Amino acid sequence: MSQVSVKETFGKGVRFYRAHGALETSGLVRKNLAEFVRRFVNRRFDRRYHVDTAGTTLLAGLTCDGANKEHGVLYEPTPIRTLKCMFRMLPVDVGGFTFVDFGSGKGRTMLYASEYNFSRIIGVEFARELHEVACRNIQTYRNRNQKCKDITALCMDATKFSLPEGPCVLYFFHPFREVVMRQVLSNIEDSYRETPRKIIVLYYHPRLNDLIETVGFLRKRGERPVPFDLSAEPCVYRRRLAVYETPEPGRECSRARDERSREVVEESNEQHDNRSAKAPG
Ligand SMILES: C[S@@+](CC[C@H](N)C(=O)[O-])C[C@H]1O[C@@H](n2cnc3c(N)ncnc32)[C@H](O)[C@@H]1O
Repeated sequence: MSQVSVKETFGKGVRFYRAHGALETSGLVRKNLAEFVRRFVNRRFDRRYHVDTAGTTLLAGLTCDGANKEHGVLYEPTPIRTLKCMFRMLPVDVGGFTFVDFGSGKGRTMLYASEYNFSRIIGVEFARELHEVACRNIQTYRNRNQKCKDITALCMDATKFSLPEGPCVLYFFHPFREVVMRQVLSNIEDSYRETPRKIIVLYYHPRLNDLIETVGFLRKRGERPVPFDLSAEPCVYRRRLAVYETPEPGRECSRARDERSREVVEESNEQHDNRSAKAPG
């Protein structure tokens, strides 16, 4: 901060104190200090690895590919402590897996994932301006622990993306609303039915958990709250992380079997309802 801005800030502080008193001034100082710490910690990843991923951006002013802008959620990078926790929840060694970030923004999660031995990393982002920053970040990223260098940022609508062959880890940080999520899940399911394989879904801030739980080809592996993170807004502490995966080989979900088991559940619910209807009192 320059001398002039320190003087200006101090002057503003004194004026505020005179107008509002000690209690309100100390509240304001605490709030500003917390914001300063949040921003500082949030930029730590960027400073360390020579990239630009911090900060939030609304989609309103951005140029988005396809017709789903109204169903998209703003850009916000995943906090680093959340990423650490999430990658520890991975049930397998990811060698041979492709990592896909649906709604990759400026690419923070792709870059973080490159510390793991994925065979390939792909980011799908429909906002051109964010995609361009991600491409620059991939070029400038410097990290001696980087294991995967095959990183591709794609500028496209997630509903148009075809899942690569082979085992995959798919990441969603609540990127879009239900109508788009439904289409994306349906594409993933078609790809899985055609070639059954290991697919792991990491879902941060799982607002559409209920939707994922209705698709027949994924099983929930676990869910937990996110860890405390100084760089995150207070509301973030209420967020959770969920992990889903396809069943082991030989126990693949078949659409027919899923439908049959749904029918069995519905039948038994119906029998139960009939029994309850007949039950006295
Ligand atoms: C919450 S941010 C996640 C950022 C990133 N995954 C990370 O972890 O740092 C959600 C991103 O999804 C993108 N998005 C929203 N709808 C999309 C769509 N239909 N296709 C592709 N990207 C989309 C937004 O532009 C935004 O950058």
